[in-house]
Amino acid sequence: MLNLFAHPKHIFFVLFVCFIAFSVWIYTIPLFSPSQYSEKELHLVAEGRLVWQKYNCHTCHQLYGLGGYLGPDLTNVYSRSGNNEHYIRGIVKSGVKQMPAFEISEDEMKVLLLFLKNVDQSGTSNPQDYQPEILGTFSLEKK
Ligand code: HEC
Repeated sequence: MLNLFAHPKHIFFVLFVCFIAFSVWIYTIPLFSPSQYSEKELHLVAEGRLVWQKYNCHTCHQLYGLGGYLGPDLTNVYSRSGNNEHYIRGIVKSGVKQMPAFEISEDEMKVLLLFLKNVDQSGTSNPQDYQPEILGTFSLEKK
């Protein structure tokens, strides 16, 4: 019988085949689960992210625990406010405590709200709530 580990060349060959097989397997796993958003909505969500960046919301707020620390984490502010867009609108337009009022157009506000809604649905701010997977990613199932 052929002993695959008899010679260093064989070990290299076995590892090489494993590497190729693993690479093929890893690239065939879809990166994202199918989105509930249409292409057009995803485009608007992306625009909302640009509004988030344009007004520097991230300098004071975190998303998924990352960002500035003057204000609270806003990953789940959408559901925390009971899906109340008026609450978020009110705060952005009028400001609160150290947060200045923003002169933001209606179009920008709409996509910003869509962005915050999308972020909210993508997970929670605390990554420790999630189950790490064997490949180093996190499962969307909570622990
Ligand atoms: C200069 C810092 C600063 C910037 C910039 C800023 N915020 Fe804030 N924001 C705050 C602070 C501080 C609070 C919390 C006030 C309090 O304690 O009630 C807050 C609160 C909020 C809340 C309410 C959070 C909650 O849990 O109820 C929302 C929503 C919000 N900000 C959205 C935004 C958005 C959207 C932007 C960008 C357009 C933004 N903020 C930019 C400082 C900032």
